[in-house]
Amino acid sequence: MTVSNPPLTARLVVTGAGGQVGGELLRLAPDARGYGRADLDITDPAAVRAIIEPGDVVLNCAAYTAVDRAESEPDAAFAANGTGPAVLAAECARVGARLIHLSTDYVFPGTHDRPYDTADATGPTTVYGRSKLAGELAVLEQATDAQVVRTAWVYRGHDGDFVATMLRLERERDTVDVVDDQLGSPTYAVDLAAGLLELANRPAAPRLLHATNTGRATWFELARAVFEEIGADPDRVRPCDSTAFPRPARRPAYSVLSDRSWVAAGLTPFRPWRAALRAALADR
Ligand SMILES: NC(=O)c1ccc[n+]([C@@H]2O[C@H](COP(=O)([O-])OP(=O)(O)OC[C@H]3O[C@@H](n4cnc5c(N)ncnc54)[C@H](OP(=O)(O)O)[C@@H]3O)[C@@H](O)[C@H]2O)c1
Repeated sequence: MTVSNPPLTARLVVTGAGGQVGGELLRLAPDARGYGRADLDITDPAAVRAIIEPGDVVLNCAAYTAVDRAESEPDAAFAANGTGPAVLAAECARVGARLIHLSTDYVFPGTHDRPYDTADATGPTTVYGRSKLAGELAVLEQATDAQVVRTAWVYRGHDGDFVATMLRLERERDTVDVVDDQLGSPTYAVDLAAGLLELANRPAAPRLLHATNTGRATWFELARAVFEEIGADPDRVRPCDSTAFPRPARRPAYSVLSDRSWVAAGLTPFRPWRAALRAALADR
């Protein structure tokens, strides 16, 4: 008797399904089993054990992502971003499931003047970044067939993310001041979700990957692009430096991620960030 394997989407498990990336994954793969925080706390080993089955591909999108608040809540950040991934990795290794875990550009110190590659040394400068690095290390150590995927500057264009905020400020204000001294890789959550689904079909991919839309921009440049794409005057966006918006967590000045590892693995390159932004605004 031949037993056919269930389709991959039936074996996909999405944690953090109520968040930006988790939500887009479930939209693109509606057969996946999605768990929001109320359904599954990834720091709870018994709860994790109850949902992961042999052969599953677990896409971990659950995380503590409040970068500023993490400075005063390190225990909460390390629980979700360090302990949670360790619990998932241990369970995946135990039952024979595969874990794909999301991480961040903030594991880097931000001092480069060329895109960060997966081989570059980490050195987070914030509690959030340190907690995410702890999660990476736990996953790579405990689950030998897991992948860690670093992404950056993720938006969907709604729910108060950066792009949504610029759309709102364009309606509310004559001019908007936006920081021009941080460079990164703006990434459309829909493109990231599609890339993760491609990766889910590629068990032999490298263990550490970077996945962002290509190119680079400052927040100021991204804000101007939002204005341009909707036909507003981009000169209403004015550059300022980070000292104009002091925040508890100092952001890396440079956190552009290289897609070398992604492309070398034969995975489909992401489109340039500006084309992705255009699509995001058209999709609204
Ligand atoms: N957003 C970005 O710009 C960005 C950049 C680089 C990397 N990343 C990484 O990409 C991944 C996805 O980010 P995202 O933007 O989709 O984040 P998000 O929108 O903040 O979603 C994260 C989700 O995880 C949930 N969560 C928190 N603690 C949990 C726990 N212990 N158990 C289960 N669920 C928990 C959150 O629930 P509550 O809302 O109830 O807390 C939230 O629904 C994360 O690993 C993040 O570090 C994001």
